[in-house]
Amino acid sequence: MHNAAFAALGLNWRYLAFEVDPKNLRAAIAGAQAMNFAGLNLTVPHKLLAVDMVDALDDSAKKWGAVNTIKFARSTGVSPANLSGIEGGTLALHSTGFNTDADAITQSLREDLKVELRGAKILLLGAGGAGRTAALKIASENVAELFLVNRTQSKAEEIAGEIKRQFPSVKVSTVYPKDNVDLILNATSLGLKHGDASPLDENEFSLKQTRAVYDMIYRPEETALLKAAKAAGCKTANGLGMLLHQGAKAFEIWTGQTAPLDVMRRALEGNVYGQ
Ligand code: ATR
Repeated sequence: MHNAAFAALGLNWRYLAFEVDPKNLRAAIAGAQAMNFAGLNLTVPHKLLAVDMVDALDDSAKKWGAVNTIKFARSTGVSPANLSGIEGGTLALHSTGFNTDADAITQSLREDLKVELRGAKILLLGAGGAGRTAALKIASENVAELFLVNRTQSKAEEIAGEIKRQFPSVKVSTVYPKDNVDLILNATSLGLKHGDASPLDENEFSLKQTRAVYDMIYRPEETALLKAAKAAGCKTANGLGMLLHQGAKAFEIWTGQTAPLDVMRRALEGNVYGQ
């Protein structure tokens, strides 16, 4: 999607993927900086590690505690003490870490499912990295009640504790809801592999008790959860919109230009689903 966007805007830029071992992450970021890269995206398991590997954190990265986008820029004005400063007569590049995942979650929920988050009751499945960001971001939108359900309950409880501290007006629990909810959101990785079961325990909670279901997984296009949700008459969406919006925001951070969303969406669909 990025290369399609560069082409659409006539930018002679390239987006490339590199597989980096976590033990080499610091060296990889320094290497990209040394080679005058405009920036980087990072994915699992690098998003948490990178927080301590950039010169500065944007508010988005501070707030959500993870970095998925880095921008390299020449420092202007007085360079902070932790920057390498003037080298060979020019100001060195410095790195800033951003998080574009969190905003992309709520943007996609609104766009793809038309969910009104304020006052909503939401069942969130999963309490790993993606689940944590989703839970905190959703809590920040003044929802009424959040049910955090995870295979390992202690991880859900840890996030629930954080929500209680940061967003005391949101009711939060770590068990399945008794009554209807407005949305079920899957942030577990269950569904990624062919033949994976649904992450929702339908003995505990019926799909008839929700209006909408969002699965952060976008490949396969329709997980067992989304298939069952459609059959139950729910409005459904997969995580492609989230992938699109985190990418579009990163594009804007690097280039300073408005992302050509339609071009990016078409490129994504073509690459991910061969459409
Ligand atoms: P990510 O960064 O994509 O969130 P993660 O941090 O490894 O990845 O989190 C994976 C999530 O999927 C966790 O909530 C995990 O549950 P546990 O915390 O109990 O490990 C959940 N998950 C993975 N496999 C699962 C399975 N077979 N059944 C239920 N939940 C599963």
